[in-house]
Amino acid sequence: MKDLFADRMSKVPRSFVREILKVTENPDIISFAGGLPNPSSFPSKEIAESTAVVLKDSSDEALQYSSTEGYKPLRNYISDRYSNVGLDVESDNILIINGSQQGLDLIGKVFLNPGDVMLIERPTYLAAIQAFGLYEPDFVSIPLLDDGVDIDVLKNKLDSLHPKLFYSIPNFQNPTGITYSLKKRKEIGEIFNHSNTIFVEDNPYGEIRFMGKDLPPVKSFLENSVLLGSFSKIVSPGMRLGWIVADDEIMKHLITVKQASDLHSNLLTQMIVHHYLTGYNVEKHLKIIRKMYKIQRDCMVAMIKKYFPSDVKYTKPEGGMFLWVILPEGMSSMELFEAAIDENVAFVPGEAFYSEDPQKNTLRLNFSNSDEKKIEEGIKRLGNAIKHLRAKIN
Ligand SMILES: Cc1ncc(COP(=O)(O)O)c(C=O)c1O
Repeated sequence: MKDLFADRMSKVPRSFVREILKVTENPDIISFAGGLPNPSSFPSKEIAESTAVVLKDSSDEALQYSSTEGYKPLRNYISDRYSNVGLDVESDNILIINGSQQGLDLIGKVFLNPGDVMLIERPTYLAAIQAFGLYEPDFVSIPLLDDGVDIDVLKNKLDSLHPKLFYSIPNFQNPTGITYSLKKRKEIGEIFNHSNTIFVEDNPYGEIRFMGKDLPPVKSFLENSVLLGSFSKIVSPGMRLGWIVADDEIMKHLITVKQASDLHSNLLTQMIVHHYLTGYNVEKHLKIIRKMYKIQRDCMVAMIKKYFPSDVKYTKPEGGMFLWVILPEGMSSMELFEAAIDENVAFVPGEAFYSEDPQKNTLRLNFSNSDEKKIEEGIKRLGNAIKHLRAKIN
């Protein structure tokens, strides 16, 4: 049977996180591994009411086939929301998709031939490596610094390799929690506007800023870009709705590949989400999420300070759902994972987030899906696991 599969299947790693989530199904384990929003933030009652209204008033439309581009009122809503952050985006330049994850696949399909050079951040979102990897590009990764991508390396690679795409997560990056500074965003505009490379801006976490000042999307400084958005972190990931913003020429191709792939995204869900967004107080809902995640993030940072050895480094994100830990030189987070499972606590070893040459002493912690009590207990256990591993290797 093996010889029947396409070559590309042997080149793409199975999702490491899925494998890890299997281990963490044990209810005794406190898991900081998944990338799950806090379910207590889901607007369940409002979604139930919206579903009833859509089915009562518009079932003929909602249950029928529809356009590939997506439900026009929802696209208009997204376009209006962008005008609040100073972005002028026509609804015709918005394509509704099944979560931003589908956008990665469609972008890969539209742009990448095997062997094309594609730049990614180092480290980056693991399922992006998987999605783009299926189109067999040569990934070249650009280091992330505290204030965003390393501009000198980026410029050098743009000039020498002429890549087709650079995939970037400028806000509260998954996995590191790092955010690009305003200065970096402007510098990116300057260098990309002199290149023939498309900046792919993936922004699922932008609305979950719980401290600091909002920054303009990198797209505001760019001529060639594709911007991805998602309702997963602000409404519900299970509803699988996101969108792509692209100019007319790119949009034409995106629509073709989306049509070939699934005709269109679930219209019933689009109409329900639209009803929810326009019929209820979404700003209030976002405030609740931000407040909740800030408490959880502050608790995790405080517990790391209390229970981890002082030479462990970590990021302190101003939004999003993750923070990134750098263990002392010489320690392996894969080995720590085993010690941590013995202590009934889990995380994602950093190796999963590199396309090549992983930095082995790194790991990702999710803070959005555990309450303060669990965070305290889990970080205490992880601190113990670090101490045990250290004693073993010294
Ligand atoms: C950076 C990044 N991009 C895309 C996605 C996929 O999100 P969606 O649920 O919109 O498909 C995620 C999900 O965790 C993510 O972290």
